[in-house]
Amino acid sequence: MIIEPKVRGFICLTAHPKGCEQNVVNQIQYIQSKGPIEGPKKVLVIGASTGFGLASRITSAFGSQAATLGVYFEKPPQPGKPASAGWYNTAAFEAQAQEAGLYAKSVNGDAFSNEIKEKVIGLIQADLGQVDLVIYSVASPRRTNPNTGITHNSVLKPIGQSFTNKTVNFHNGVVSEISIEPATEEDIENTVAVMGGEDWKLWIEALKAADVLAPGALTVAYSYIGPALTEPVYRKGTIGRAKDDLEATASSITDTLKDLDGKAYVSVNKALVTQASSAIPVIPLYISLLYKVMKEQGIHEGCIEQMQRLFQQRLYTNGTVPTDEKGRIRIDDWEMREDVQAQVASLWAEATTESLPQLGDLEGYKTDFFNLFGFEVGGVAYETSVDEMVEIPGLA
Ligand code: NAI
Ligand code: NA
Repeated sequence: MIIEPKVRGFICLTAHPKGCEQNVVNQIQYIQSKGPIEGPKKVLVIGASTGFGLASRITSAFGSQAATLGVYFEKPPQPGKPASAGWYNTAAFEAQAQEAGLYAKSVNGDAFSNEIKEKVIGLIQADLGQVDLVIYSVASPRRTNPNTGITHNSVLKPIGQSFTNKTVNFHNGVVSEISIEPATEEDIENTVAVMGGEDWKLWIEALKAADVLAPGALTVAYSYIGPALTEPVYRKGTIGRAKDDLEATASSITDTLKDLDGKAYVSVNKALVTQASSAIPVIPLYISLLYKVMKEQGIHEGCIEQMQRLFQQRLYTNGTVPTDEKGRIRIDDWEMREDVQAQVASLWAEATTESLPQLGDLEGYKTDFFNLFGFEVGGVAYETSVDEMVEIPGLA
């Protein structure tokens, strides 16, 4: 079939297998161009099919020749109906990895469930014995707690008072004011239940109990801080409470891993266009201004550049892992540079529907958004019919 983008707000209902494949190939080539990393050898990536998780998997496999096991929640294709992007990304990744002689298998299902945890543990026992790195990169709007059966929905709201600021509809470039009412106590608890550290901890406890964590094993989850501009809706809002919880969970997991000499880290990453971040109000305008400034200064990075730097310059240096005073790894260092943030803040004050095309990188935002789904990728013949029924080689 010929596949075209079908956009509804901040999601795209279709994905292109060849475009997703090309994205994966481009990321693999980037990692290969940066040379080998003395990194992990057997890696479990939870949330492995898109964004930072996919980039972590590619970096592990093609940077340090690691066997990788991926977990994700993606929609398979049906005749005449394309799969979700993460499905095609994973199909392309596993084909490339297996061709390169690397173990690459995956499990498609709800990572929050006990059933999927058991399935993954069984696979590790059968195929790998133990893993030496666990990446936790799940981003989801809801979670069913397997022990209570309660489904929690996360919200993106400020806490304490309503928040009014600019936002952009990145499809038509219209800049407008948005007001968001403050969260209730229940909203906060639900968001922490979905995006906080509880499931990460449950994973590590289950893996440890099954003796599938290698001595010295590391585990890493991803967080975000961002500038004062976005604080009310991000770091000091409901999602920020979840990130506080995630960061606190890192030290509690480190305690759990003590006898293995293992360690848990949170890495604070840069703001990037992913399926998760396009859903957050205000953030797309911030990202389009940030991209403009960082590209002009030659310091812009995407998920793969961020993960390459995380592995090579933070996690696997043969020295101690550099962290901030709260024990967090910072690869948002370039985003948070004072000169970068000063420029973004002054552009923010000026941004209107009329001025944004000059002030910001709205085009870059849009391209990245379409790229997430395999569209507008260079070198792909979109006018040609493709087979939507792509299989994932290592799907267990
Ligand atoms: P993403 O939407 O690209 O990736 C989410 C992944 O989670 C996908 O692989 C998806 O299949 C998987 N997933 C979702 N629900 C699942 C479930 N129930 N079971 C199994 N897998 C499931 O998101 P992104 O942006 O890569 O986010 C990953 C982490 O990075 C999140 O913790 C996010 O807060 C954090 N982060 C994101 C930043 C950004 O600007 N995008 C910046 C800094 C941190
Ligand atoms: Na991810």
